[in-house]
Amino acid sequence: MSRAWVELDLEAVRDNVRAIRAVAGAEVLAVVKADGYGHGAAPVARAALEAGATRLGVATPEEAARLREAGLTAPVQLLGSFLDDELDALLHARAQLTLNDPGDLARASAAARRAGRPVGVHLKVDVGMHRHGVAPEQALEVLAQVAADPALRLEGLMTHLPAPRDEARSREMLAPFADLVARAARAGLRPPRVHAAASAALFRLPEARFDLVRPGIALVGLDPDRAPDGASSCGLTPALSLRARVTRILEVAAGEQVGYGGRWTAARPSRLALLGAGYGDGVPYALTGAGAHVLLHGRRCPLVATVMMDYLLVDVTDLPRAPAPGDVATLFGRDGDAVLPLEEQARRAGLIPYALSCGLGARLGRVVLGARTASETLRRAA
Ligand SMILES: Cc1ncc(COP(=O)(O)O)c(C=O)c1O
Repeated sequence: MSRAWVELDLEAVRDNVRAIRAVAGAEVLAVVKADGYGHGAAPVARAALEAGATRLGVATPEEAARLREAGLTAPVQLLGSFLDDELDALLHARAQLTLNDPGDLARASAAARRAGRPVGVHLKVDVGMHRHGVAPEQALEVLAQVAADPALRLEGLMTHLPAPRDEARSREMLAPFADLVARAARAGLRPPRVHAAASAALFRLPEARFDLVRPGIALVGLDPDRAPDGASSCGLTPALSLRARVTRILEVAAGEQVGYGGRWTAARPSRLALLGAGYGDGVPYALTGAGAHVLLHGRRCPLVATVMMDYLLVDVTDLPRAPAPGDVATLFGRDGDAVLPLEEQARRAGLIPYALSCGLGARLGRVVLGARTASETLRRAA
C-alpha cells in the first residue's frame, strides 16, 4: 500500500459524460490531454467512450500515441498546433489535425500524401483568443481549399472561446463564427461537425453547443462554480480523491514552534498527525499558512506548519478519537459523507483547479475504481 495515492472513480467519469450528453444533446469529444488532467488519460478516455463520448482530444503527438498503445481506436484530434517534424508521428497514430493557419493546409496535405492516405482535419477559427485559428474573414476560402484537397478529409469547423464565463462577451465572439457557418452552408460547404464549447461554455452557452462539445475538466467532475459545501451547479461528480496515510502522531506543548521555519506555533497543547504526502507529490506549497484543511475520520482538520516535500502536519487535537499511524487522510475528495473539493484546495493555494490536478506527482500511487475491462483491472492491481 502506498503512503499517498490518487483514487480515480471511473463511474464518476461515466456519470459526468452522461450528464454532459443530457445537457448538450451533442456529440462528445473527451479532452484527455496532460494525462487526462492528471487523472490518467487512458482510463478516463475509455470510461468516457463507454458512456457515449465518440472522440478524444489531445495536445501532443505522444499523447495520441499513448492512447493508441492503450488500444483505443476512437478518432483522436490534436487540438492545437503541430510542428513539421511531428507530422509523421501524428499520422502514424492516426490523429486528426487542427488547421490553424492557411499554411497548415499544405503541410497536412503533404504529410497525408507521404503516408498514402487522407488525414482528417478540423479548421479552427480565431474569434478572439489569439492563440490558434484562422481569421473569420479568411476561413471560408480555406474551408473551400480543404474540401477540394483529396489528401484532406474535412472533419469539422471549430473555434475556442477565451472567457466562456463572460457570457455576453462570448456571445459577441460566437456571432462571426455562426455567421461563417451560415455563409459556408450557402456556399455548399457543410463540415460534418461544428464545435466551439469546452466545459464551461457547454453548460452556460446553449448557442455554443452546435454538433459537438469538447469537455475536459467537466469529464473528471471539476466544476469551477462548485459551492463551498461541495455541491456542483452542473451536476458533476468529482472523479479523483487524494489520500495520504498518517505516518506518526506527535504531541506538542503550547508555545512550541513546529516545522521548517517554525511557521506555526501551538496555541494550546496539541496533537498533530504527520501525513505521508507533500509538495513532492504535487500538494501545493502555497497551502502553507493558507487556512486549508484535510479530512481525517470524516472530519475537517486544519493543515498547520509548512508544507514539506514528503510530509504535511495536521492538527487533530479536536478529533473525538485520536488517529493512529496508518489511518487514511483525504487531501481532496470524499471521505464517507464528508467532501473536500479539489477546487477548494486550489483556491486556497491560488491555483486554478486545472493546475492542481495536472501538477499531481508521479510518486503517487494510483487506484482505479469502477473499471469494466480486464486491462484496467490489471493496471489497478499493478
Ligand atoms: C480546443 C480545446 N477544446 C477543449 C478544451 C477543454 O477545456 P475544458 O477543460 O475547460 O473543458 C481545451 C482545453 O484547453 C481546448 O484547448
